[in-house]
Amino acid sequence: MSNVEQTLSIIKPDAVERNLDDKIKSVFINKGFKIVKEKKIKLEKEDAEKFYKVHETKPFYNDLCEYLSSGLIVAMVLEKEDAVLANRKLMGATDPKKAEEGTLRKQFGISIDKNSIHGSDSINNSKIEIDFFFKD
Ligand code: CMP
Repeated sequence: MSNVEQTLSIIKPDAVERNLDDKIKSVFINKGFKIVKEKKIKLEKEDAEKFYKVHETKPFYNDLCEYLSSGLIVAMVLEKEDAVLANRKLMGATDPKKAEEGTLRKQFGISIDKNSIHGSDSINNSKIEIDFFFKD
């Protein structure tokens, strides 16, 4: 049975700054993802705090929110069979140093903070995160 899902992906400021957005989008397309919605925006810090609210008790929360709101990002809705898991596999481990060969974070990530890309970690969070950027 088919299980087409949507997931949210964000190309983070470190990657947009290095003009990697088109390259990263073409990786998604070549891997069979459809980019059904996208927008290039700069968040206010308060928006980033809302987006990353699940991490609010973590020691890195403030830096994380400062960082996500520090420059342009590209938010995208990606669609594919089992998109949530497929996207997480393609991104690789959170820390680029630990990410597997061939993954986006291995290829483009600079550090655990500047890891180039975010992806929803579950189908439930994908719905929340898609609404965050694209609910009109
Ligand atoms: P992301 O998938 O966008 O979700 C939360 C982000 O927090 C994560 O990517 C990392 O960039 C960042 N981060 C910073 N420090 C840590 C840490 N120690 N563990 C997990 N994530 C971290």
